[in-house]
Amino acid sequence: MIIRDETRGIFVLSTTETSYALGLVEGALPVHLHWGARLSSPAGLTLPDSPRRPFSVQTPVGSGEANLDGCPAEYGFAGSGDFRTPAWAAIDSMSYPILEAWHESHTVHAGKPDLAGLPSVRTASGDGAETLELVLRDGPSSLEIHLFYTVLPEFDVITRSATFVNSGREPIRLSRAASLCVDMPNRGYEMVSLCGAWGREADLIRHPLAVGAHSIGSRRGISSHHANPFLAIAESSATEHHGEIRAAALVYSGDFLAQVERSSDDQLRLLLGINPETFSWLLAPGERFTTPEAILVYTESGFNGMSQRFHAIIRERLMRSRFRDRPRPILVNNWEATHFSFTHDSLLPIVDAAAGMGIELFVLDDGWFGNRDDDRTSLGDWSVNRRKIPRGLEGLAEEVTRRGLRFGLWFEPEMVSPESELFRAHPDWCLHVPGRGRPTGRNQLVLDFSRAEVCDEIIRRLRAVLDSAPVSYVKWDMNRYLTHVASPSLPAERRQETAHRYVLGLYRVMDELTSRHPEILFAGCSGGGGRFDAGILAYMPQIWASDDTDAVARLRIQYGLSLVYPISSIEAHVTDVPNHQVGRVTPFATRGEVAISANFGFELDLARLGESERRQAAEMVAFYKEHRDLIQQGAFWRLESPFEGDGSAAAWMFTEEGGKKALVFAFQILNVANRAPRFLRLVALDPQGRYRVEGSEDEHTGAELMGRGLRLPLAAGDFAAYRCTLRAM
Ligand code: GLA
Repeated sequence: MIIRDETRGIFVLSTTETSYALGLVEGALPVHLHWGARLSSPAGLTLPDSPRRPFSVQTPVGSGEANLDGCPAEYGFAGSGDFRTPAWAAIDSMSYPILEAWHESHTVHAGKPDLAGLPSVRTASGDGAETLELVLRDGPSSLEIHLFYTVLPEFDVITRSATFVNSGREPIRLSRAASLCVDMPNRGYEMVSLCGAWGREADLIRHPLAVGAHSIGSRRGISSHHANPFLAIAESSATEHHGEIRAAALVYSGDFLAQVERSSDDQLRLLLGINPETFSWLLAPGERFTTPEAILVYTESGFNGMSQRFHAIIRERLMRSRFRDRPRPILVNNWEATHFSFTHDSLLPIVDAAAGMGIELFVLDDGWFGNRDDDRTSLGDWSVNRRKIPRGLEGLAEEVTRRGLRFGLWFEPEMVSPESELFRAHPDWCLHVPGRGRPTGRNQLVLDFSRAEVCDEIIRRLRAVLDSAPVSYVKWDMNRYLTHVASPSLPAERRQETAHRYVLGLYRVMDELTSRHPEILFAGCSGGGGRFDAGILAYMPQIWASDDTDAVARLRIQYGLSLVYPISSIEAHVTDVPNHQVGRVTPFATRGEVAISANFGFELDLARLGESERRQAAEMVAFYKEHRDLIQQGAFWRLESPFEGDGSAAAWMFTEEGGKKALVFAFQILNVANRAPRFLRLVALDPQGRYRVEGSEDEHTGAELMGRGLRLPLAAGDFAAYRCTLRAM
């Protein structure tokens, strides 16, 4: 619901539990008034006064004036009195700064407009979604800024984006264009983010805010393993279950900046959007530029409350794939089993073993194309290697299908190996700066996806493969950060646009391939979770979470990712020991429980498993099939964090609506001597209900399980896992 108090220039946007309010100072300057608990009316809101203070500059606003530095801006600009980091910045054709933009008009639309060329939340007719469009304008340059706010009441979510329009006669250059800017008083808040590195994605970082700017971001061309495009501020007392949190996720897969700036007056400015450091955009007369979208969530029910809102909106309104609500297949991938060395014949025993366990999909990873026997060649040459696969993909897919599994295939569409036919034919198709070197990463260069003809050719090549064999699943990998980010094909004045144009090109390719092949399940990957973001999830409803498949490392990675991303999107596989990345040996059962906790699969030579592990694997598959709907679509609750205490415990649970059934998972990383019994307090059960622990005689009331807790019969030893199914009687 959007309420407009036209006389006072106040707008209140409300979901079922949240309100977001903004107003107009002197009818001209958009200011932020509230983001928090639901307000029943705008009556209690007042526009801020921003009195003169020593050293303040009084900027004319409408018929009055304001000290902009003291005003909570709705979309802050620099250079005319607000000295904080601006949300946007632009210069005119004479390189003068465009200093201001004042309210010109506003409209409320039913539903939500699409964002040109960018993935975004879509609304359905029953959602009751409404959009406030606020148009700001700078008179001298005729730059218009359209701020879009969409309310999705049932999802308890608000989305924001901005469109810049050059309605004048001279070019304008944008150098900053954030998706979100919110100013608010600080109340001892902490900043929460997800950071890491390859193999250590999504480490949960939480820290108090000193005065100054605190940011995470990427200038690696992709959202990256190092930082996730998500930002939250939380009360310092907030837990998984209680406390106020304001959070935003950016629907974008390229360079981004997420920043919280605390002023000496104890005000906060939150900024989230494209990273201005690698961004510049020329707006010719008549042209427009649209920022990516930010998804905003406010909750008083702690981090689980935040996550559940993100999960629902991403799953139900962002993911476009037909698979978003379908049970995702249990797969086996050959990568960790074979790396590049396989043939048609050597793969079949894995498929046979998988068939015996009830696995549903076989994914052929890197090495099936060109002359690829290691990572030095052939990216770009997407035609089957007949030496390894003599009967072609069709012949292999036929064998796989005959064994009752579907067939999936790995690609790395954005890359080219210098040692490839594609590169020999088009040496200028990679990102590069003429006259300088072309350094490789993993022996590869990045194709220039800012060029339409490059994108078209890659679409053509992939489609040719996808049409040549019954492929049901595509793993879309991306194994190199972007450097030398310049496209010689762009005119000089637009060359700085390459980074964002690359992302737009990528989205076009993903959009075209996924919509032309709607019955293929596409999965994202970037050396694991190097591009685990809401932008990719719009096209590909699941992503390989990390190349680190160690069960202990995965507890942290999957816990961290679940803060924002739905469980169905987090791919997790049971792999061999000693683990390939960290050398750790964990029990087969524990590896199973960690992978079962997400989007489940295997990645090891199943044919070489001993009898007992084979049986266990088949049991895991059967269990997952039975409970897949609950795991992939149910409510997910984090209970104990591997990021807290001594980091030795982790636990979570899944609940069906109404609390009739629950799955509980608990892990003990390192054991200690003489430990007191561990009781795990559950949530979201019916307090009066009686629950039976499946497979045992134990019965408890919901109140007992949520109060005293469930006693965990964890085995002695390190890396132990416990799982149980609770059913209401
Ligand atoms: C990346 C992926 C792996 C695997 C290899 C293949 O590292 O994350 O899962 O596909 O590439 O080269």
